[in-house]
Amino acid sequence: MHRKRIRHPRFWDRVVSAEEAASLITDGMTVGMSGFTRAGEAKAVPMALAERARITPFKITLMTGASLGNDLDKTLAEAHVLSRRIPFQADPGLRKAINAGEVMFIDQHLSETVEQLRTHQIPAIDIAVIEAVAITEQGGIIPTTSVGNSASFAILADKVIVEINLSQSDTLEGLHDIYIPSRRPSRQPIPVVSPESRVGFPFIPIDPDKIAAIVVTEKRDSSSTILPPDDGTRNIAGHLAEFLGNEVRQGRLTNELQPLQAGIGTIANAVMHGFIDTPFHSLKMYSEVLQDSTFDLFDAGKLDFASGSSITLSQAKYQQVITDMAHYKHKLILRPQEISNHPEVIRRLGLICINTALEFDIYGNVNSTHVGGTHMMNGIGGSGDFARNGHMSVFVTKSIAKDGKISSVVPMVSHVDHTEHDVDILITEIGLADLRGLAPRERAQTIIANCAHPSYRDDLADYYRRAAERGGHTPHLIEEAFSWHSNFRQHGTMKPDA
Ligand code: COA
Repeated sequence: MHRKRIRHPRFWDRVVSAEEAASLITDGMTVGMSGFTRAGEAKAVPMALAERARITPFKITLMTGASLGNDLDKTLAEAHVLSRRIPFQADPGLRKAINAGEVMFIDQHLSETVEQLRTHQIPAIDIAVIEAVAITEQGGIIPTTSVGNSASFAILADKVIVEINLSQSDTLEGLHDIYIPSRRPSRQPIPVVSPESRVGFPFIPIDPDKIAAIVVTEKRDSSSTILPPDDGTRNIAGHLAEFLGNEVRQGRLTNELQPLQAGIGTIANAVMHGFIDTPFHSLKMYSEVLQDSTFDLFDAGKLDFASGSSITLSQAKYQQVITDMAHYKHKLILRPQEISNHPEVIRRLGLICINTALEFDIYGNVNSTHVGGTHMMNGIGGSGDFARNGHMSVFVTKSIAKDGKISSVVPMVSHVDHTEHDVDILITEIGLADLRGLAPRERAQTIIANCAHPSYRDDLADYYRRAAERGGHTPHLIEEAFSWHSNFRQHGTMKPDA
């Protein structure tokens, strides 16, 4: 079976066990692996690395597209293989090691990693490990459910290990569009002018002599962990739909809107799902991760086209999508993440960008990454690429977390990922704050009135009133600004009177 997927006999004798392939990776190396939001990660070689490290300790720098599935980040962290991890993760086990200071995590805008590699600003990739559907006659690598950083990793690495995954359907072939920008400073414009633009190859073109080993696997991608929509997320989706409907009535958008980008996780998926019950139609996505909601929107006849860098689905949805791939294929493209997230393209296409905050403050600064200001959750991912460059930057979150002990609207965010300058619209289940054209004092009053949970609203209003009396363009009581966070730390609730 695997010989059908390795399309030239000259590669057949490069098939080895995962352990043999992993033996090419040695202490101190920088390894670039495929994998983006639990989709298309190399599966066998990282497991073999972890097993070896339990017997003979060694460490590597691991770069990927984004998070890995199949508990690989956890397994590698627990085997103490990782000295550095770049540029995103979403695993509780690895999160623990990062927050303990054991793994050095470099939290990067997802469009930037390969630009820095190409220009030797970060250590070069020694070996790339890439999951593939097939290797073409010429040695081109056909990725699986994600592209992420795989293409540049394979092109820039000295050696490449390919994992041919027989559980990944060969109907995925043809989805990918591999375009690598030319070198700076004489780079030509990236010719993506609509989500449908195909500008590259359907495979990763590399020097076939670099393929040092091929491993045959059959392990599936793990399913996405998103939860179904609930009342809170449905309310958030409703506020967004009402707002966009008003943009249409004002003549600023049409019912086709502009290409949509949606972030990762439960809330973003639920918000996208909410578009099913709106008057908007002929929608297009130019996004990063295509979640279940993308295919629900296709099935509802709302979405015409989706461009992303990975497909991350629940188990039931994955089976349906793979079975019906012929139906979806002409409406889908998977691109390298530097293209799906490229500032030039995002600005050109005028995306409506919807990402998720952990918390935001009364002036509209957003924290998407650091719980309590110190502890890494997942990473900034692509949210910064999109928020700064889109037509409109929307951030969503529930107004409270942890049974109301945490307010997601705070006097001052404890960590800033997206400054007030990159945030246009804030939405919680309570309501929506349209910050466009507002000065800080106006922003504060709008955010407190529209987005804060009733159990925290008066306290926020009181903070703002006392700060405003003291004066300033962006009034604050500096000595009190983080008191809500320190209250939570000391008393287990942010309530100021605790
Ligand atoms: N303080 C502390 N914890 C908070 C919090 C806050 N202000 N707000 C939410 N949380 C907790 C929730 O309680 C939940 O905890 P649990 O896992 O123990 O249940 C967890 O954070 C996730 O929150 P949830 O409400 O389920 O949201 P989500 O699944 O939509 O994820 C982010 C939200 C922010 C963590 C996620 O979207 C993310 O990592 N974003 C950054 C990267 C990004 O935006 N990438 C997309 C670009 S394309």
